[in-house]
Amino acid sequence: MKAVEIKPDIYWVGAIDWAVRDFHGYVTPNGTTYNNYLILDEQITLFDTVKHDFSEVMIDNIRSLTDPSKIKNIVINHIENDHVSSIGDIMNLTPKATIYITDKGKKGLDRFFNTSKWDVRIVKTGDTLNIGKRTLLFLETPMLHWPDSMMTYIKEDKLLISQDAFGQHYASAARFDDEFITCFSITELEDAVKDYYANILMPFGTLIKNKIAEVQKLGLEIDMIAPDHGIIWRKDPSKIINMYLDMANGKADLRVVIVYDTMWHSTEHMTIPLMQGIKDEGIDVKIVKLRANPVSFAVKEFWKARACLIGSPTLNNSMFPTVAEFLAYLKGLRPKNRMVGSFGSYGWGGGAVKDVYEEIKKMGLETVEPGVQVVYKPSPEDQKRCYEFGREFANKVKTYHKKFEEGT
Ligand code: FEO
Repeated sequence: MKAVEIKPDIYWVGAIDWAVRDFHGYVTPNGTTYNNYLILDEQITLFDTVKHDFSEVMIDNIRSLTDPSKIKNIVINHIENDHVSSIGDIMNLTPKATIYITDKGKKGLDRFFNTSKWDVRIVKTGDTLNIGKRTLLFLETPMLHWPDSMMTYIKEDKLLISQDAFGQHYASAARFDDEFITCFSITELEDAVKDYYANILMPFGTLIKNKIAEVQKLGLEIDMIAPDHGIIWRKDPSKIINMYLDMANGKADLRVVIVYDTMWHSTEHMTIPLMQGIKDEGIDVKIVKLRANPVSFAVKEFWKARACLIGSPTLNNSMFPTVAEFLAYLKGLRPKNRMVGSFGSYGWGGGAVKDVYEEIKKMGLETVEPGVQVVYKPSPEDQKRCYEFGREFANKVKTYHKKFEEGT
């Protein structure tokens, strides 16, 4: 896709990756984009680069606007490989350019590249850089997404270049939110925002709230947010800020997701009466089988719902490996404000349900115990127990969810 003007003399010069489905292990069913931006001011300034596979695409986009050797400044807002891995190609074209980066960013850059001949200057929150008609203001955002991360605000354009924050892994011919407003794909876009937040930013809810409050306190007028992935928020940047605040505050749907795996369908057969019991109490339910879905999808569904039932058969006195994988991944994301129960089947000793509860308690999540277990195959009586546990769980979820509705 050719360069796109997002503000007068400010261009998207990135690349669309329609085909990527494995983003460092995180499954991206909608692909992604690597956004970077070029300002044609008195000092031509580039913000971030793209994943190295797309370096030529980015350089062609820049060439369509100017000779890359004229780039005077390069702002590196984030050093993860999907944004910095083409910096060597850019520096070859404009070796005298000055790089602006945070202290932690510089330390990382030195590990990835030989920077000995590069002019690298460290910036911190509040530092500014005049590039002609515009002045850039740097805002450190450590851990959003890496320790090095920062954003750049351009007052004259009311533009926030936000690197990973407010992004989505969503490949699209559209570059702006308003291209989705009357389009069915707005639902897909919102889901992509939640997917990205759940799988990448979930651990950083408090930091996100604090950073948004800090920006609001600075009184920065923002009429466009340009992230490093996905679409640019032009029509309604407050929409994505409010979505982030909601997610950082633990907002979730009054809904239960049943995440499970199964060996010989016994645990699977338990999901139906569980689902029926929850539904009969008026709560929506979604069922996600782990071996049929990427773990990142299960995490997204976990994040969207107020509560989760986790089902596992017992294998070698322990939980099933895919369930263990799901819980290990979830634990790293440090989830909060969710209620969890467990269920499962076993042949002799058992152990899976106990294991699941132990892991959930380590995460500090609310539990409903002791869950429900069956031997070998659910009998009609077992199915009734599952149904009743589903109803009990749904009622506890309703009470638990009220706390968040009331903001207590
Ligand atoms: Fe898109 Fe943290 O990199």
